[in-house]
Amino acid sequence: MPARRLPKRTSGFNELYLYLVFFINIPLFIQSALAGGDFDIWIFMFNPKEILKLAQTGKYAIGSFNFSTAEILKAIVLAAKELKSPIIVSTSEGEASFLGMREAAALVEAWSIATKLPIILNLDHGKTPELIKKAIAAGYSAIHFDGSHLPYLENLAQTKKVVDYVRGVEKTFDRQIIVEGELGYLRGSSSVHKEALKVESEDMTSPEQAEDFIAHSGVDSLAVVIGNAHGVFAQGQEQLDLGRLDEIRRVVGTQAFLVLHGGSGIPEKDIKKAIKLGIVKININTELRVAYKEAIEKQIKEEPTETTPYKIMTPALEAVKIVSGEKIKLFGSKNKLKDLRI
Ligand code: G3H
Ligand code: ZN
Repeated sequence: MPARRLPKRTSGFNELYLYLVFFINIPLFIQSALAGGDFDIWIFMFNPKEILKLAQTGKYAIGSFNFSTAEILKAIVLAAKELKSPIIVSTSEGEASFLGMREAAALVEAWSIATKLPIILNLDHGKTPELIKKAIAAGYSAIHFDGSHLPYLENLAQTKKVVDYVRGVEKTFDRQIIVEGELGYLRGSSSVHKEALKVESEDMTSPEQAEDFIAHSGVDSLAVVIGNAHGVFAQGQEQLDLGRLDEIRRVVGTQAFLVLHGGSGIPEKDIKKAIKLGIVKININTELRVAYKEAIEKQIKEEPTETTPYKIMTPALEAVKIVSGEKIKLFGSKNKLKDLRI
């Protein structure tokens, strides 16, 4: 199969896109002005791919934070707002089925308008084309198709089909949607593991396959396995194979955005080095879950007679906000909102 060259993502393309969106939305600007600016139209004007492109150029990473309840989303958004950072918020299949995809999208849109933050809503580890289609119909602006459990060629073929579908949607509906693929065997789940982690080298992403996968599938982003795993491991932190990441970056160049899943429990120095070596999106779930759960437990213990939900939940919201804020600072995306042309 001949290697297909991906179109270069140039800033010219982004400018043209923004101009088009501007002119298409002129009636909305007028309505906004008539409504005294209360009707926020700016939200139509951000391109999720531009957010990752700026991170790639500026050598920082955007946090992708999982949520399954309204207050967890609120906590993440408030942290990002305070730190003037772009963010990605994600729902896995389970999280999306608990909250509802349309409901998640409506909440994100409401927070985006209220805070004027460009919030990317991402489907995390979507394993079937049906789920991907559902997320896009609900309004998600990024999707992660995870075919990493499949044999390589099957993963490539299915991911390519997803990419083709998304490109069609982008064309028809004048939208921009990030497509992320995954290569390698990522162990664990987003919880605290008692057993020690052992990542075998054959589980890790091969640089040659990464190059081939990106060229033939046309994905925007690639999730790599370089010693990372889902969850936090009680017996020792995850250790990244930074040499492998460097090799992957060399062969991939800037043809795709590199993504690090399993961001919880990775030593801070490894996270910083990984960002220097080209990681532009880092997924965080377990550390938010642990902060949320521990804060609720503590609150109920301290105030056992309290029954008002928002009083019980306030410390949990604060705890999630603190963890999200720490990650935003670690990833270097604080104050990067100003780089965006919105
Ligand atoms: O897709 C979600 C992330 O990879 C979360 O990983 O639970 O280790 O933070 P984590
Ligand atoms: Zn993940």
